[in-house]
Amino acid sequence: MRILTKEAYESKIKSVLIPEEEIKSAIVRASEYINNLYDGKPILLVSILKGAFLFMADVLRTVTVPCEIDFMVAKSYYSGTVSSGMVQITMDLSHDVKDYHLVILEDIVDTGRTLRDVVGLLKERNPLSLHVITLLDKPDRRVVDYTPDLSLFVIPDRVVIGYGLDCNEYYRNLPYIAEYGE
Ligand code: IMP
Ligand code: MG
Repeated sequence: MRILTKEAYESKIKSVLIPEEEIKSAIVRASEYINNLYDGKPILLVSILKGAFLFMADVLRTVTVPCEIDFMVAKSYYSGTVSSGMVQITMDLSHDVKDYHLVILEDIVDTGRTLRDVVGLLKERNPLSLHVITLLDKPDRRVVDYTPDLSLFVIPDRVVIGYGLDCNEYYRNLPYIAEYGE
């Protein structure tokens, strides 16, 4: 919690990077990708909280094949240039994933550490398959070798907010993706 005037809050929303309509088209692309994975076996959509909760909600309402949902909270701890895995799962899935095709829905891939670690960890649980869809991808920021299966928007190295993404927990409620700045 921070004390922030409405003017100060609004002044940090620099420019709209991805308008609502473009997000909606991307949701359709993500949902078609998931529909195409369906082979009669169960699909589990997994979202990493909190950033991807709106993305999950919208994709879920657009997918037309049978699927279940689950959530996890993962925190990565790294110091300096250390890039070896150090992810802590502070809230784990409630499903045993081994009978499922897993689809991870992520808000943004930045350094790549979180997903590299989470994917490694979930693969050890032997799901039928594992795919990762990210709404946003900042490849210029990557410090580990990690590429999602589907990146809906590739964006430059900017801090972005809105549509679930925060800056100090604020701005998740914006219906579009904006650039954050002074
Ligand atoms: P990574 O492990 O560096 O790839 O970090 C990914 C996580 O950092 C994302 O899931 C976001 O929660 C957060 N993150 C990275 N860049 C941004 C941003 O520009 N805005 C808001 N959150 C971000
Ligand atoms: Mg996240």
